[in-house]
This record gives sequence, C-alpha cells and structure tokens, in this order.
Amino acid sequence: MCDTKKVGILGVGMYLPEKRLTNKDLEKIVDTTDEWITTRTGIKERRIAREDEATSDMATMAAKRALEDAKLTPADIDLIIVATITPDMFFPATACIVQDKLGARQVPAFDVSVACSGFIYGLAIAKQFIASGTYKHALVIAAEKLSTITDWSDRNTCVLFGDGAGAAVLGPVEKGGILSVHLGANGKQGELIKLPAGGSRIPASKKSVEDKLHFIKMNGSELFKHAVKIMADAALEATKSLGLKAEDIKLVIPHQANLRILNAVAKRMGLTEDKIYLNIEKYGNMSAASSAVAFVEAIKGGRIKRGDKVLLDAFGGGLTWGAIVLEW
Ligand code: UT7
Repeated sequence: MCDTKKVGILGVGMYLPEKRLTNKDLEKIVDTTDEWITTRTGIKERRIAREDEATSDMATMAAKRALEDAKLTPADIDLIIVATITPDMFFPATACIVQDKLGARQVPAFDVSVACSGFIYGLAIAKQFIASGTYKHALVIAAEKLSTITDWSDRNTCVLFGDGAGAAVLGPVEKGGILSVHLGANGKQGELIKLPAGGSRIPASKKSVEDKLHFIKMNGSELFKHAVKIMADAALEATKSLGLKAEDIKLVIPHQANLRILNAVAKRMGLTEDKIYLNIEKYGNMSAASSAVAFVEAIKGGRIKRGDKVLLDAFGGGLTWGAIVLEW
C-alpha cells in the first residue's frame, strides 16, 4: 500500500499523578542520597499514581485532554493504540479498556509492548493506517504505572522510575506532519532490562514472588553504554533519509532515561544541550510515557512553533529503538 496522505499531530494531552516522591523521600526508603541520584541521573523527583489509579485511568485522562486539544470527540476516533509495559492486566488490552472509558466507537484497539520506545512505535503504526486511507483519526497513548513493577528495596532501580501518561491525536494534514520514521530492535540484548516473571516462562507462584521476579531487573551500566550509540544512530537514520543535518532540527525530544545519556547523545549528534528537551528532573523515567509527556510539554511550553522540525528519539527494553522526524 502506498502512502497517499500526510499525517500530523492534531492535538496532545498528558496526565501526571499528583503525588511527588522526592530524592529526600527515597533517602528514607533505601541507602541513597539526593546528591547521588541528582549527579548520576538528573532526577530530583518523580510522580507516583494512587493505589486505585491504574494505567488505563491515566491513559484515559491524557486521551481526553488530547481530544479536547484536537477539538475532536471520542466518536471521531477510528483507532486506539496504547503503548505500555504496565497494562491494567495481561488482557484485555489496556487500549480496549480506554476505548470503553472514553465511550469511543467499537474501533480497533490494541497495546504495543516495546517499553520506552512505545510512543514512537505507536505513532509510526498509526501513521501507516492514516497515510493509507484506512483510518482518519487515531489516538496514540503512552501510559505507565512503573511504581507497580519497581522493587522499592533495590536502590539500583527504584530511584529511576515514575508514573504518567501522554497522548496524541493523529490525522491527515495539508503540510508537514510525520516526515520520516526509523524503528529497530535487537532481541539479543533483551536480558539487559526485563521483568522476568508473570508470563508463560515463569508464571506467578509463591516462589516467583519471594524471589522478587515481578519487578524490573536491569543492568544499568551495560544499558548506559548501548543507549548513547543507539539513540544517536536512530536519530541519524531518521534525519539522513530526509537529507537533513542535525542543525535543521529545532528540538530533539528524547526518552528521558538519564541526563548523562542525553548530554552524551547531544554531543555525539553535534548538538548543543539546549536543543535537547529535558524534563527528567521532574518525572524520572516513565518508560513509553517519557517521550510522550516531553512532547506534550514542549508543545504546550512554546518550545516548538508551527513549521519547526522536531526529532522524537527513544530506546528501551527489547532492546528497541525508534526515531521520528516531524514538522510541527
Ligand atoms: O529506560 C531505558 C532503560 N534504562 C536505562 O537506560 C538506564 C541506563 N543506566 C543508567 O542510567 C545508569 O547506569 C544508572 C543511573 C542506573 C546507574 O548509574 P552508574 O553510574 O552506571 O552507576 P553503577 O550502576 O555503575 O553503580 C555505581 C555505584 C555502585 O556502587 P559500587 O559497587 O561502586 O560500590 C552502586 O551500588 O553506585 C551504587 N549505586 C547507588 N548509590 C547510591 C547504585 N544505585 C545507587 C543509589 N544510591 N540509588
């Protein structure tokens, strides 16, 4: 099927839970310091969802705001994609739950599980459906409640993650929109970050709970090494196909895993650090929701103007990665 339509972002929205967990709060939970977390990661605080607030609740809030921003209603939506590694449950898909909560029509709804690259994969999938003329309007939501898969006794990981959701409504546009997409994965490196149990390999059992296998396991320093190269290479692929140079990009909106990773990516791309959008200080790493929330904030905060070229860039568990160049 050939691409016939330009596809752009018609509206965006986000939702962050109210509760803030600061580095000082974490000092009381594990053997860590505000100084260590700040200098090693750039994170100062993160949001934690209420116990009664599931991923679909946050996703629905972000989706409603995106629809309002796009001046559309749930009835206008033809496709719903939720990017998440913390679904409400294995099935039904969180996207189906969101469809119901929104009161949308009985349109296709499914989840995408590619960890931190999920928002970009979601945008890429939705774009194809709209460009081909199959659907007109798609809702892409990235939502995570990572606090439920975080081991709060493991200082190596618990200081990093947070909860939140971001959403975008996609549809046909006259000019600009999504100009290029580059996606990839390397399953050989899947061991570097994973949630081992709860699936068919290690079903939930008393032992799997005692062994803490329902929490994120991560080889942080090894991931760090790959992250910089993967993100810089993905960015290069997405810009190269358009004949663009790094300086043609107004703002890079990356997945927020670690401030040091992002500074190193900027250096590798030959960009000054002010060209990289950062909000890791406020929210930590929200997996798929990180780049989505950063995108929404960059737009709402006036960091992107109509006609600007923007690069979304992410990598995560899988390993997976994705970069999108779009003209806002
Ligand atoms: O979202 C995509 C996937 N995630 C990532 O891409 C994460 C990438 N990795 C990272 O961001 C960094 O590797 C971390 C922030 C996770 C860790 O930073 P690091 O500079 O790579 O530290 P490290 O893991 O090499 O640990 C250095 C030391 C260790 O102590 P020893 O063995 O040298 O005595 C750790 O035990 O820091 C210690 N440490 C801590 N100390 C205080 C680890 N976590 C903490 C902590 N507070 N929270």
